[in-house]
Amino acid sequence: MIFDRNEQKEVIALLGAGSMGTAIVRRIAAGRKILLGDISEKNLEQVARDFRYSGYDVETMTVNALDKESVEAFAQKAASLGAVKYFIDTAGASPNQAEPEHILALDMVGTGYAVDAFGEVMAKGGAGLIISSQTGYMFPIPDETERVILSTPTEKLMDLPFIKETAMQNSGFAYMIAKRVNHLQAQKAAATSWKARRARINTISPGVIVTPLAYDEFAAAGEGYQEMVDKSAAERCGTSDEIAEAGAFLLGEHAGFITGTDLLIDGGVIAAIRTGEYSLHG
Ligand SMILES: NC(=O)c1ccc[n+]([C@@H]2O[C@H](COP(=O)([O-])OP(=O)(O)OC[C@H]3O[C@@H](n4cnc5c(N)ncnc54)[C@H](O)[C@@H]3O)[C@@H](O)[C@H]2O)c1
Repeated sequence: MIFDRNEQKEVIALLGAGSMGTAIVRRIAAGRKILLGDISEKNLEQVARDFRYSGYDVETMTVNALDKESVEAFAQKAASLGAVKYFIDTAGASPNQAEPEHILALDMVGTGYAVDAFGEVMAKGGAGLIISSQTGYMFPIPDETERVILSTPTEKLMDLPFIKETAMQNSGFAYMIAKRVNHLQAQKAAATSWKARRARINTISPGVIVTPLAYDEFAAAGEGYQEMVDKSAAERCGTSDEIAEAGAFLLGEHAGFITGTDLLIDGGVIAAIRTGEYSLHG
């Protein structure tokens, strides 16, 4: 049985085939080709099977987002399959899962490799989405330092004094800074390499979303995490499907004027912090 005779489908590439990424892809994948990239082969197999049983056209590739060549090969593979219409990057590790160096290498540098590599292959009218985090709003970086970050090539980010001296202090700092750098990476690409291809790129900064990654955070962070959620306007955690709704909008044609920006979807956590309703420091 041939489910779909169209052999010239637009391509959706997803790096990090986790909970939020797959929820976003599901909303935009009908009639398109999906390329899933993840470091976990087991995860790839399982996610690809679920997609296939739901009628989607899927290919998989083992990718290590820490490795520039691996990410570049992923972008080239996407381009070999057809016009790359969408790129979504959700590969990440949270503070309680890893040491600062790993978090910065994956969430900051790895994201930079992906934005750079897809900046070479995106189709005209295409769109990209990086999943950042509400924590990108929790550690303000001085303007001057942000300008330095914006003008630093991805390979050199780890050498910056601010990264070496501040971000490396602990996993929490590393995560907050990496996620703010994601906003800057989208701004930079939107204004330069992605603009040159007439493609848009944005970030979403989710609050606490119940996924396997968040379960690790709940287990390690305990009551502090609970209080943050309780003091937010929503008084609850979010779901991957809520992020996916916004993701599909930002990737879609109704968002044609939106590029280089971030959408904070946190149930009001940052509003609670900024107004003193909740304090990060207890
Ligand atoms: N869940 C939350 O509460 C939350 C909140 C804010 C931001 N985020 C961010 O959202 C993104 C997605 O998180 P999620 O909750 O969907 O997690 P998830 O664990 O479901 O998905 C992350 C995926 O990344 C993959 N991955 C990890 N290291 C990789 C590597 N080196 N190369 C390729 N793939 C790799 C994992 O195998 C996994 O499939 C992450 O960047 C995370 O930091 C999560």
